[in-house]
Amino acid sequence: MSASAAAIEAEGLHKTFGSIHAVDGIDLALQPNRVYGLLGPNGSGKTTLIRLIAGLARATAGEARILGTRMPSRPMLRRIGYMPQAEALYPELSVRENVAFFARLEGAVSNDAIDRVLELVELGDRRGTPAMHLSGGMRRRLSLACTLVHEPPILFLDEPTVGVDPALRVQFWAHFRRLAAAGTTILVASHVMDEADRCDELLFVRSGKVIARGTPTELRQGAGTTDLEAAFLHYAGLDAEGRPLVASEP
Ligand SMILES: Nc1ncnc2c1ncn2[C@@H]1O[C@H](COP(=O)(O)OP(=O)(O)OP(=O)(O)O)[C@@H](O)[C@H]1O
Ligand SMILES: [Mg+2]
Repeated sequence: MSASAAAIEAEGLHKTFGSIHAVDGIDLALQPNRVYGLLGPNGSGKTTLIRLIAGLARATAGEARILGTRMPSRPMLRRIGYMPQAEALYPELSVRENVAFFARLEGAVSNDAIDRVLELVELGDRRGTPAMHLSGGMRRRLSLACTLVHEPPILFLDEPTVGVDPALRVQFWAHFRRLAAAGTTILVASHVMDEADRCDELLFVRSGKVIARGTPTELRQGAGTTDLEAAFLHYAGLDAEGRPLVASEP
């Protein structure tokens, strides 16, 4: 075990897929009680980074640690909640059976905990509905319930609110903030700038590297703007209309 207080660490993390450097040398130390936002263009490496840290993919070089333990580590999986970008639900199982299935994977989870998490995502009255009969946003909510049910201290959320309506999105974020206040470490990838603004710190990923890190205010200041969307374009190397600032090589 490392003596570090960081909940999530990465050192020289690399992942290549053939000639693609999906994660290209990332160092991180993320602390409990905080929500970290992972921003960056499509294909910049956010999902790959999360999967490496969560121990779901093997690094080409470097290492990731969770609570001081080198990943991948099977025992650590119980301490992690991972909400994938592409949800992994069992379409024929009901809402409640899906959550109970994930809960069982994680060991002893009470029926009360399952009911609480279904209330949280407002699927209590759909507990008997097969997952395949849910709407897209409801499936996202169910996926979040499966991620949270065992109350893990480390949460990886890969675009958790895509397709979730604004009212519930606000409630999700209030819950994420409560979890962080209670000691959870949260790393959340998002393309939604008002969500980014709710994070304690942002990590901007471009071409597999973290090219900027700071509070939302610091990132805005670093980009010379008061608008987070404009800051996103700045760090992505794009002009105000989304065109590359530097002509790409022929
Ligand atoms: N299993 C894989 N096999 C081959 N290439 C992959 C694989 N997974 C990811 N990649 C590539 O790695 C790069 C990073 O992909 P990744 O999914 O991490 O991006 P992302 O930042 O999460 O994008 P998005 O915002 O679209 O979710 C992309 O070029 C992608 O095509
Ligand atoms: Mg992704």
